[in-house]
Amino acid sequence: MNFECHIPTTIIYGKGSRLEAARQMEKMRKKRVLLVSDRFFEDTGKVDEMMKAMKEKGITPFIYSDIAPEPDLKTAQAAFEVYCKSGCEAVVSLGGGSVIDVGKAVAVMATNEEDFRKFNGYFLVPNRGVFHVAIPTTAGTGTEATRVATIRDEGVKMTCFDDAFMPDVAIVDYELSMTMPPRLTAMVGMDALAHAIEAFISAKANPVADMYALLAIELISNSIVTVYNEPDNENARKDMMMGSNYAGIAISNSSVCAIHAMAYPLGVRFGMKHGAGHAILLPLVTEYSIGSSPARYAAIARAMNHAPPGLSEDDLNLLLVERLRELNVKLDIPSPREWGVKKENFMGQIGDMVDDAISTGTIDDNPRVFTTDEIARIYELLYDYQ
Ligand SMILES: NC(=O)c1ccc[n+]([C@@H]2O[C@H](COP(=O)([O-])OP(=O)(O)OC[C@H]3O[C@@H](n4cnc5c(N)ncnc54)[C@H](O)[C@@H]3O)[C@@H](O)[C@H]2O)c1
Ligand SMILES: [Fe+2]
Repeated sequence: MNFECHIPTTIIYGKGSRLEAARQMEKMRKKRVLLVSDRFFEDTGKVDEMMKAMKEKGITPFIYSDIAPEPDLKTAQAAFEVYCKSGCEAVVSLGGGSVIDVGKAVAVMATNEEDFRKFNGYFLVPNRGVFHVAIPTTAGTGTEATRVATIRDEGVKMTCFDDAFMPDVAIVDYELSMTMPPRLTAMVGMDALAHAIEAFISAKANPVADMYALLAIELISNSIVTVYNEPDNENARKDMMMGSNYAGIAISNSSVCAIHAMAYPLGVRFGMKHGAGHAILLPLVTEYSIGSSPARYAAIARAMNHAPPGLSEDDLNLLLVERLRELNVKLDIPSPREWGVKKENFMGQIGDMVDDAISTGTIDDNPRVFTTDEIARIYELLYDYQ
């Protein structure tokens, strides 16, 4: 089997390592840099701290921080305007997946004149983006290590997949994640676990993605309940941040599958946050898919470190579904009903949700390729799933 491996050129890990961004810019002789972030990090002083570190190295930073979750093309264009007007040469993004995706879009806009909408799809960008240092604050999307930028445009969530979007440097500093409230911690953490599991069971799985996926599954599944209950636990925060980064590397080199395909309409139609939909779908889709790849799912159960020795593949498969369901209970992950979606509204849109999920394309990478009836049945069960 032939496969490729794509990761950022440099990944820096460790507490406080975020300020290394200034040194990376200095090394590349960048003098004017766009710092993309959001209001939360401006208000909590993290933007000021980064600006100070840059100024000390003779670099002039310019800020764009008007970024809401799930950003749209107008936001990315506004950030690019600041980049151009200020004569910037490089980008630093400091924030969750939303901020980093804007950073990626700006980096690519700076080197490509075509309308950004043309990049919605696979491998459509002619030129690599400008030098980009991405610093995640959630654990998380793993966006700092992927070749994807997700940007909304008039009701469509564009998924732009191209090597051109890969940041040059990723800085994985778990200290930044310590301010995440428990609910955000749980939802983005389960999104990261879904990345690792889907990368491992995907039809596009390969040895490099497998290695990162299994490490991520081990780190995340053993620390997610602890970070939810003990937000100040540094060891658990560190493991979650590493796990999220490894899971990002895994999906970028393999793919997501049915969970991500089916979560997509939950976000666009009912406003379920990226992560909430993935978490609630994780045990149910696993239960439906497990018979098509029992050995791989058994390996996931073993990586979660909660399997007593000597269990058969069947036992490991049962244990995995049980354990995923248990994690959702311990993390208070809401079903669509608990999220506040009305039953008639949800059930009435199942046909359209099935079409949405199929339109993503990634559903075909699932170990079991579902029929439309099966997808509809999973949505029906999901509404009030515990
Ligand atoms: N490009 C990719 O590879 C990829 C992969 C998965 C998801 N995504 C995208 O990423 C976005 C979701 O990103 P996300 O889940 O990281 O959340 P987010 O970036 O949307 O942030 C959600 C909220 O959390 C806040 N926040 C972020 N970090 C915090 C911290 N440390 N402490 C306190 N509050 C904090 C933000 O200010 C924001 O209000 C979606 O748009 C999704 O489509 C991209
Ligand atoms: Fe995700």
